[in-house]
Amino acid sequence: MKDKKHLSVSAIENGTVIDHIPAQNLFKVISILGLDRIPNQITFGTNLESQRLGRKAIVKIADKYFEREEINRIAIVAPHAKLNIIRDYEVVEKMLVEVPDHITGIVRCVNPKCITNFENVAPKFEVVDKKNVSLKCHYCEKITDQEHMEYR
Ligand code: CTP
Ligand code: ZN
Repeated sequence: MKDKKHLSVSAIENGTVIDHIPAQNLFKVISILGLDRIPNQITFGTNLESQRLGRKAIVKIADKYFEREEINRIAIVAPHAKLNIIRDYEVVEKMLVEVPDHITGIVRCVNPKCITNFENVAPKFEVVDKKNVSLKCHYCEKITDQEHMEYR
Protein backbone atom coordinates (compact mmCIF):
# COMPACT_ATOMS: atom_id res chain seq x y z
CA MET A 1 0.00 0.00 0.00
CA LYS A 2 2.73 2.42 0.94
CA ASP A 3 4.27 4.19 -1.98
CA LYS A 4 7.44 6.03 -1.13
CA LYS A 5 7.16 8.27 -4.14
CA HIS A 6 3.96 9.70 -2.75
CA LEU A 7 4.57 10.57 0.86
CA SER A 8 1.55 12.08 2.59
CA VAL A 9 3.83 14.73 4.03
CA SER A 10 6.94 15.83 2.13
CA ALA A 11 10.32 14.36 2.98
CA ILE A 12 12.71 16.47 5.03
CA GLU A 13 16.42 16.98 4.53
CA ASN A 14 17.52 16.96 8.19
CA GLY A 15 15.63 16.52 11.40
CA THR A 16 13.25 14.18 13.18
CA VAL A 17 10.14 12.41 11.95
CA ILE A 18 7.76 11.20 14.64
CA ASP A 19 5.49 8.57 13.16
CA HIS A 20 2.64 6.43 14.53
CA ILE A 21 1.11 9.03 16.81
CA PRO A 22 -2.56 8.31 17.60
CA ALA A 23 -4.38 11.02 15.62
CA GLN A 24 -6.42 12.15 18.62
CA ASN A 25 -3.22 12.91 20.54
CA LEU A 26 -1.31 14.85 17.92
CA PHE A 27 -1.77 18.21 19.57
CA LYS A 28 -0.77 16.83 22.96
CA VAL A 29 2.48 15.63 21.42
CA ILE A 30 3.03 19.07 19.92
CA SER A 31 2.41 20.71 23.25
CA ILE A 32 4.47 18.25 25.35
CA LEU A 33 7.48 18.70 23.08
CA GLY A 34 6.98 22.46 22.94
CA LEU A 35 6.80 22.39 19.14
CA ASP A 36 4.46 25.36 19.24
CA ARG A 37 7.27 27.48 20.70
CA ILE A 38 10.25 26.77 18.42
CA PRO A 39 11.19 28.50 15.16
CA ASN A 40 11.94 25.29 13.20
CA GLN A 41 9.95 24.31 10.13
CA ILE A 42 7.37 21.75 11.16
CA THR A 43 5.00 19.81 8.95
CA PHE A 44 2.40 17.34 10.02
CA GLY A 45 -0.28 15.09 8.68
CA THR A 46 -3.16 13.70 10.65
CA ASN A 47 -5.96 11.20 10.19
CA LEU A 48 -3.68 9.22 7.91
CA GLU A 49 -4.47 5.56 7.50
CA SER A 50 -2.62 3.16 9.73
CA GLN A 51 -3.13 -0.57 10.01
CA ARG A 52 -2.11 -0.48 13.66
CA LEU A 53 -3.71 2.67 14.98
CA GLY A 54 -6.69 3.17 12.70
CA ARG A 55 -5.90 6.83 12.26
CA LYS A 56 -2.43 8.09 12.85
CA ALA A 57 -0.57 11.36 12.78
CA ILE A 58 2.98 12.13 11.78
CA VAL A 59 5.10 15.17 12.63
CA LYS A 60 8.28 16.24 10.88
CA ILE A 61 10.56 18.72 12.61
CA ALA A 62 13.35 20.14 10.46
CA ASP A 63 16.82 20.59 11.95
CA LYS A 64 15.88 19.31 15.39
CA TYR A 65 17.11 16.27 17.29
CA PHE A 66 15.71 15.34 20.67
CA GLU A 67 17.24 13.97 23.83
CA ARG A 68 15.97 10.58 24.95
CA GLU A 69 14.30 12.07 28.07
CA GLU A 70 12.49 14.69 26.01
CA ILE A 71 11.11 12.07 23.68
CA ASN A 72 10.03 9.73 26.45
CA ARG A 73 7.71 12.45 27.72
CA ILE A 74 5.34 11.66 24.85
CA ALA A 75 5.14 7.97 25.77
CA ILE A 76 1.92 8.35 27.74
CA VAL A 77 0.06 9.88 24.79
CA ALA A 78 1.89 8.09 21.97
CA PRO A 79 3.23 4.78 23.34
CA HIS A 80 3.91 3.36 19.87
CA ALA A 81 5.53 6.42 18.38
CA LYS A 82 8.50 5.73 16.20
CA LEU A 83 11.23 8.29 15.67
CA ASN A 84 13.23 8.51 12.53
CA ILE A 85 16.40 10.58 12.55
CA ILE A 86 16.97 12.08 9.13
CA ARG A 87 20.28 13.31 7.79
CA ASP A 88 20.74 14.32 4.21
CA TYR A 89 17.32 12.90 3.31
CA GLU A 90 18.23 9.45 4.64
CA VAL A 91 16.82 7.70 7.71
CA VAL A 92 20.00 7.15 9.74
CA GLU A 93 18.40 5.92 12.96
CA LYS A 94 15.07 4.67 14.28
CA MET A 95 14.03 4.90 17.90
CA LEU A 96 10.99 3.80 19.86
CA VAL A 97 9.71 5.79 22.80
CA GLU A 98 10.00 4.24 26.25
CA VAL A 99 7.68 4.89 29.15
CA PRO A 100 9.83 6.73 31.72
CA ASP A 101 10.02 5.89 35.46
CA HIS A 102 8.81 9.32 36.50
CA ILE A 103 6.62 11.94 34.90
CA THR A 104 6.53 15.61 35.85
CA GLY A 105 4.15 18.33 34.80
CA ILE A 106 2.20 16.65 32.01
CA VAL A 107 -0.69 14.84 33.66
CA ARG A 108 -3.16 16.14 36.23
CA CYS A 109 -3.54 14.19 39.48
CA VAL A 110 -6.94 12.49 39.68
CA ASN A 111 -7.39 13.55 43.30
CA PRO A 112 -9.22 16.91 43.40
CA LYS A 113 -7.82 17.54 46.89
CA CYS A 114 -4.22 16.98 45.81
CA ILE A 115 -1.95 19.97 46.41
CA THR A 116 -1.03 19.97 42.73
CA ASN A 117 -4.63 20.82 41.86
CA PHE A 118 -5.03 23.91 44.00
CA GLU A 119 -1.55 25.27 44.53
CA ASN A 120 1.18 26.16 42.14
CA VAL A 121 2.92 22.79 42.47
CA ALA A 122 3.80 20.81 39.35
CA PRO A 123 2.33 17.29 39.40
CA LYS A 124 4.91 14.58 39.83
CA PHE A 125 4.31 10.85 39.48
CA GLU A 126 6.01 7.53 39.73
CA VAL A 127 5.03 5.24 36.87
CA VAL A 128 3.76 2.12 38.66
CA ASP A 129 2.51 0.29 35.58
CA LYS A 130 4.35 0.87 32.32
CA LYS A 131 2.18 -1.32 30.16
CA ASN A 132 -1.20 0.20 30.91
CA VAL A 133 0.40 3.39 32.19
CA SER A 134 -0.79 4.14 35.66
CA LEU A 135 0.77 6.84 37.74
CA LYS A 136 1.20 7.23 41.49
CA CYS A 137 1.20 10.79 42.73
CA HIS A 138 4.35 11.84 44.54
CA TYR A 139 2.32 14.09 46.87
CA CYS A 140 -0.96 12.30 47.66
CA GLU A 141 -0.08 8.78 46.50
CA LYS A 142 -3.37 8.38 44.62
CA ILE A 143 -3.25 6.40 41.39
CA THR A 144 -4.16 8.07 38.12
CA ASP A 145 -4.84 5.48 35.44
CA GLN A 146 -5.12 5.79 31.69
CA GLU A 147 -8.88 6.08 31.82
CA HIS A 148 -8.81 9.07 34.16
CA MET A 149 -5.83 10.77 32.63
CA GLU A 150 -6.17 14.45 31.92
CA TYR A 151 -3.37 16.49 30.48
CA ARG A 152 -2.34 19.95 31.56
N1 CTP B 1 10.96 10.48 5.96
C1 CTP B 1 10.99 11.84 5.73
N2 CTP B 1 12.05 12.42 5.10
C2 CTP B 1 13.07 11.68 4.66
C3 CTP B 1 13.08 10.29 4.87
C4 CTP B 1 12.00 9.71 5.52
O1 CTP B 1 10.07 12.54 6.13
N3 CTP B 1 14.07 12.29 4.04
C5 CTP B 1 9.86 9.88 6.69
C6 CTP B 1 9.00 8.94 5.87
O2 CTP B 1 7.93 9.66 5.30
C7 CTP B 1 8.47 7.97 6.91
C8 CTP B 1 9.54 7.98 7.99
O3 CTP B 1 10.36 9.10 7.75
O4 CTP B 1 7.27 8.46 7.47
C9 CTP B 1 10.36 6.73 7.99
O5 CTP B 1 10.91 6.54 6.71
P1 CTP B 1 11.25 5.09 6.17
O6 CTP B 1 12.05 4.36 7.18
O7 CTP B 1 11.79 5.24 4.81
O8 CTP B 1 9.78 4.50 6.05
P2 CTP B 1 9.18 3.11 6.54
O9 CTP B 1 10.11 2.01 6.20
O10 CTP B 1 7.80 3.07 6.01
O11 CTP B 1 9.14 3.31 8.11
P3 CTP B 1 8.61 2.30 9.22
O12 CTP B 1 8.10 1.07 8.57
O13 CTP B 1 9.83 2.07 10.12
O14 CTP B 1 7.55 3.09 9.97
ZN1 ZN C 1 -1.92 13.89 43.88
